[in-house]
Amino acid sequence: MSYKVGFMGFGGMISGYHLGTIRREDVPFEAVAAFDIDPERRADAEAKGLIAYDDPDRFLSEGKYDLVVVGTSNNYHCELACRAMEAGFNVMTEKPAARNSAEVARMIETSERTGKLFTVHQNRRWDPDFLKVRQAIADGCIGKPYMIESRIHSANGAGDMYGWRGMKDHGGGMLLDWGVHMLDQILYMIEEPIRTVYANVFPLWSEEVDDYAKVVITFESGLCAQMEVATYAPIPLPRWMVWGDRGALTMQDIGSPAAHVRRIKQDTTAYEKVKAFEDYEVHFREQSRHRIQEFEEFDTDRSPGGGWHSLYQNLAGVLAGKEELIVKPAQVLRCMKVIEAAFRSSEEGIAVRF
Ligand SMILES: NC(=O)c1ccc[n+]([C@@H]2O[C@H](COP(=O)([O-])OP(=O)(O)OC[C@H]3O[C@@H](n4cnc5c(N)ncnc54)[C@H](O)[C@@H]3O)[C@@H](O)[C@H]2O)c1
Repeated sequence: MSYKVGFMGFGGMISGYHLGTIRREDVPFEAVAAFDIDPERRADAEAKGLIAYDDPDRFLSEGKYDLVVVGTSNNYHCELACRAMEAGFNVMTEKPAARNSAEVARMIETSERTGKLFTVHQNRRWDPDFLKVRQAIADGCIGKPYMIESRIHSANGAGDMYGWRGMKDHGGGMLLDWGVHMLDQILYMIEEPIRTVYANVFPLWSEEVDDYAKVVITFESGLCAQMEVATYAPIPLPRWMVWGDRGALTMQDIGSPAAHVRRIKQDTTAYEKVKAFEDYEVHFREQSRHRIQEFEEFDTDRSPGGGWHSLYQNLAGVLAGKEELIVKPAQVLRCMKVIEAAFRSSEEGIAVRF
């Protein structure tokens, strides 16, 4: 059994990554058609064996799809996804789901009203570095975490906001690009309520949109998570740093298979001297606490694996009625609201209560 897929937009990501993944043997989907406004992209779709459409209405009325994947520039995701759901199809959009939370809310409303599935290609939930960090935290490897730092630092403007990515009305900018992956990972890992969002978001090289973003989220328990993406950071900091009450872990690169951990092996807390002055009317006691900690240091075992194609495998399970959807619409909306709070925080110079 293979599920039929129609693409709306057949640019770099869809014609490269999505088509290649769908054609893997362990992914039970089959690409059948593509709609794109660019004749060159349609010619490429035909050359790759798909039926190409220049008209969205014909694409939706003539095709029979189990899933429509929307992979245009970000400004068309909402409109095209809603049209596809209204036409009776399940939809997955590329990330970001849309430009703002009002658009995401409209997509969720359309999904609920039509009874069609709506999800987003948050493929970086299956990045090996993220899976390892998430597992290490859940295993209690460093105790109770109190600070999580997630960073993408690149040099020479790599990750430049070119083409539509540099246009605000197209949903361009780094926070809606890498930022949505990094925040989605943090929010997927930490489900507790958010207290505040504080951010600094600005253009360093771009003219119209942000290409630097730092977002600090404080959760109800006091746990703090920070994401930072910088397109010009010639001295990079590690991809992940996490501190807990029993140790810390770091992961250097995005492709790292294992985390490096330094944690307390033995903790002897001694109250060494107690001076008492009880002869006086005011009783006074002084004590000094002496902390002796011994650490152990090691690399964890490799990442539990994963791979981005696991997202399509989950979708196949959902369509077969056997699995629960992993990238849920409510999570997508929460993430978009954090992004909006981050933009507001940066503009107004305040920490936004969430
Ligand atoms: N998940 C990831 O890791 C990842 C990576 C790269 C890109 N993306 C996302 O994929 C999407 C596409 O990015 P890309 O790099 O492929 O961009 P791209 O510019 O290469 O492709 C966009 C395509 O959409 C077509 N298009 C534009 N407007 C259209 C419309 N109204 N109707 C039909 N087709 C239209 C364009 O002609 C082009 O072929 C974006 O949302 C981007 O954020 C996700």
